[in-house]
Amino acid sequence: HKDLLDVVQLSKSEVMAIFETAGRFQELQERPVKKVPTLKGRSVILFFAEPSTRTKTSFDVAGKRLSADTFSLAKSSSSLTKGESLKDTALTLQAMAPDAIVIRHWCSGAARFLADRLDCSVINAGDGRHAHPTQALLDSFTLYQEWGDVAGKTVLILGDIAHSRVARSNVILLNKLGASVRICGPRTLLPPAIRKWPVKVYSDLNEAMKGVDAVMCLRLQLERQKEGLLPDLREYARTFGLAQRHVDLANPEVRILHPGPMNRGVEISSDLADCADSLVLDQVSSGVVVRMALLFLYMTRKGEE
Ligand code: CP
Repeated sequence: HKDLLDVVQLSKSEVMAIFETAGRFQELQERPVKKVPTLKGRSVILFFAEPSTRTKTSFDVAGKRLSADTFSLAKSSSSLTKGESLKDTALTLQAMAPDAIVIRHWCSGAARFLADRLDCSVINAGDGRHAHPTQALLDSFTLYQEWGDVAGKTVLILGDIAHSRVARSNVILLNKLGASVRICGPRTLLPPAIRKWPVKVYSDLNEAMKGVDAVMCLRLQLERQKEGLLPDLREYARTFGLAQRHVDLANPEVRILHPGPMNRGVEISSDLADCADSLVLDQVSSGVVVRMALLFLYMTRKGEE
């Protein structure tokens, strides 16, 4: 493929090829000098029209570790603030002849819009509520490393599903890899089409936790919710915030994930975020090597089927 827009487009063998490449790059992370010349002379534009700490920094680190030149453009410092359209912004960036553009945008479909108009690779770093493919890949890679295989495991995704591109991408990818996926959240934060999703839906967190191998907590996406429909945070935390009493109902050695940024004390207790079974920082480390693998595979078009 030229672009990575959604995990839907990836076959299981392509996902495994990404994991295998990420695994090889992981060995480099142990070395005192982590930089290799693999993508020397190539350039990546990181175009983030929404805030980001993990995704933007890890793409930047990933590109630089592969010796690519990386250039950052944020909404606040771009001419989007002067009314320039996404199309003109995209054509302007293309005229600088990058090898790849990594885009995060508040509109679902923004990455595809660019991909259809540009010759270079476009990698979706999160578009509206639609998709966050690199997050799902790094989440599954983290679990794959932990367990050796994701197939046959039960993973619960907990919280604000309706506004979450992370939830959508993870449901698709975990199913593709053979995991059984559960969803739990307040009815108001489930998408209308949830009945068509390949998941088991729970409204009671205690029931949802029984027999799970991993639980992924999601942030309340307050910025995407309509005024007046915001949930009461204290009530939300009491009903859907992950606490030790819930973890005690899960399988032994249940793994705890959160894509970040976390609202400690809302969707997850602070103790659980930092506990030995938490993979939150492993997810961040996986993010670097998975994004190194993606930049390598997409910018050199290696591993095409
Ligand atoms: N998980 C994630 O996408 O984090 P950032 O918003 O910090 O990139």
